[in-house]
Amino acid sequence: TIPAAVDALLPRMTIEEKAGQLDLMVAAWAGGIATALNPPSTGTTTFETQLADAVAGKITGVFNGNGARMAQRMQRAVMRESRLKIPLIFAADIIHGYRTIFPVPLAEAASFDPALAEQTARIAAVEATAAGLDWTFCPMVDISRDQRWGRTMEGSGEDVRLGMLFAAARVKGFQGRDLTAQDAMMACVKHFAAYGAAEGGLDYNTVDVSERTLREVYLPPYKAGFDAGALSAMASFNEISGVPAHGNPWLLDTLLRQEWGFEGIVVGDYTGDEEMIAHGFAKDSRDAARIAFMAGVDMSMQSNNYARFLPGLVRDGLVPMERLDQAVRRVLAVKHRLGLFDDPFRRIDAKREQARTRTRSHLALARDAARKSIVLLKNEGSLLPLPRTGQKVAIIGPFADDKHDLNGPWVIYGDNAQSIDLAQGVREVIGASNVTVTAGSKVGEPLPGGIEAAVAAANAADVVLLAIGEAENMSGEAQSRTDIVVPAAQQALAEAVAKTGKPVVVLLKNGRALALQGAVKDAPAILVTWFLGSESGRAIADVLFGAYSPSGRLPVSFPHESGQQPYYYDHKPTGRPGGDAVAPYRATYRTAPNTALYPFGHGLTYGDITYSGLNLPATMAGNGALTVSATITNKGQRSAEEVVQLYIRDRIGSTTRPVRQLKAFRKIALAPGASEVVTFTLRRPDLEFIGVDLKPTVEPGTFDLWIAPSAQAEGVHGQFELLA
Ligand code: IFM
Repeated sequence: TIPAAVDALLPRMTIEEKAGQLDLMVAAWAGGIATALNPPSTGTTTFETQLADAVAGKITGVFNGNGARMAQRMQRAVMRESRLKIPLIFAADIIHGYRTIFPVPLAEAASFDPALAEQTARIAAVEATAAGLDWTFCPMVDISRDQRWGRTMEGSGEDVRLGMLFAAARVKGFQGRDLTAQDAMMACVKHFAAYGAAEGGLDYNTVDVSERTLREVYLPPYKAGFDAGALSAMASFNEISGVPAHGNPWLLDTLLRQEWGFEGIVVGDYTGDEEMIAHGFAKDSRDAARIAFMAGVDMSMQSNNYARFLPGLVRDGLVPMERLDQAVRRVLAVKHRLGLFDDPFRRIDAKREQARTRTRSHLALARDAARKSIVLLKNEGSLLPLPRTGQKVAIIGPFADDKHDLNGPWVIYGDNAQSIDLAQGVREVIGASNVTVTAGSKVGEPLPGGIEAAVAAANAADVVLLAIGEAENMSGEAQSRTDIVVPAAQQALAEAVAKTGKPVVVLLKNGRALALQGAVKDAPAILVTWFLGSESGRAIADVLFGAYSPSGRLPVSFPHESGQQPYYYDHKPTGRPGGDAVAPYRATYRTAPNTALYPFGHGLTYGDITYSGLNLPATMAGNGALTVSATITNKGQRSAEEVVQLYIRDRIGSTTRPVRQLKAFRKIALAPGASEVVTFTLRRPDLEFIGVDLKPTVEPGTFDLWIAPSAQAEGVHGQFELLA
């Protein structure tokens, strides 16, 4: 609903002005990331020409622009000189921070702490809105079950429940309590839908999933984002079962609007409408505009097709005026909800932009989020935490003091040069005189003399920190990999360093799960450190030297081998279930079991955590609830935060059920020697699945239940009967 004054605009608008409200263009002055992707097809390539377009009512707003000053000039010109004075909307990809950079979303999901994600999204919005931004193209909520896909780093991983919780948290964080507030920005749930299910993990590739899998696995996080109040959705580049998302009325109308009741706007992805020509679904740009618009894409991004073709399509009777008015009303409604009609300048403030970015408290949050995102995969002989005194540390690897790969992909406004690298973080704790730094290898190729220097550095030290993995540009959009391993040159470095016999702590830098091999896999201690943002080095040092006990858990399973992709813990059982060993005539590979090396949910602490005392009722009434508990004890000498996870398996169903599914989790703090009884309550919706008729159903029968530290751990296990 929009107020009468805004609604009254409609009859005053020409068809061209209406179409202009549906056309979003990359900021012509932005340079950098967005314009590098694809040249705008309009010929609008300078600030001056784009300003003229804005004043003429040819565009609804711009995205990925640069700062309050430009936004101010543009909005002022529109409010002074345009015929209708409809405020522009300013958008950008604020994915994990504006100038204060938080961990990449996948890393943050490893915190298993949605409240943390809400907080970081809030601060990202506080910074970005001060620069005049009204709208972020975030959160990306695509479930990713194939780690070859580079955009895994941008979502919350492979699990549905975790994905839903993080989707909702991020929407709430960006939008805040009141969308008209100066520091609130509209969230955009993307990419709708199932973009993460691209065949072979190849970005932009075909998606062909059943409606059951769509509804059970891929759709729930989008729905959770909309239920949390997101007012925009972005169509995905992929086709689903033969129909591109941009031209899919079932997806964008029947499901999204009629079934789910979504009332916001659907924006296309960057030239996504135009790309239906390459898909072989539209014959030319005009056809693409018609198909996308009639399917339900309200706003076109960057193709300029709506401004170019909608007026003619309406005049030729190929697009009804009612549909045009409907889309314009939706766009004006979100501009109104953002408070732009009351004050088009409410978010544009160059002074606030300076004062509110990279503040001390924002950086403190970045450090906290970063250390909570780190996952301790392995810690043989309690090598970690390291002592703060009395040891010489050799930091070896291309990411030892690298300044290019700290923030991670999808950062437009943050500066890697301002972020804290590993060497700095370590030096701050143990003093520069105890630290040597040696690259040893480039990211993708050997460094002449590098291995010799690294071996010498290792020999001269008491412990090695081996900082290896993926560079920033190896994950993210269009960065699919065929082999998800540590690059060969770095693997060779790891082998040589391991031969020195010095204790090695592997610090993995990665935007996806990796298949660890040889000396990397066999190192006594392994930390997953992802791309952690502004305070990377300090957060890693906090964990290395025990200022913080690691509490992160894997949001994606680390397979034994690359060839296991797609791999996800909640797979179906098959008629010949595999298991933890290679076995003939079983669902295992010739060389790898059908399990993960490090499963979803795995992550160690500096405590020694045990699970006992499962208290599980034998039955649950059909419409009732089931309260179950277990005792979690820290038998270790150090405090720890444990992520206690509840999984179920529905033993028999009218459609086959996954071998395990996460239904709930809680993060608890345990002092040395402390115990806590952790209680969960399951309700009927937790036991639902999509039945043969594609409707949610619950079937009575036997359920397994685990309260466990990971998707593969036994923890404590029992069964209950769901009664009719
Ligand atoms: O928001 C992004 C999207 O995720 C991928 N294509 C470009 C858009 C705008 O930058």
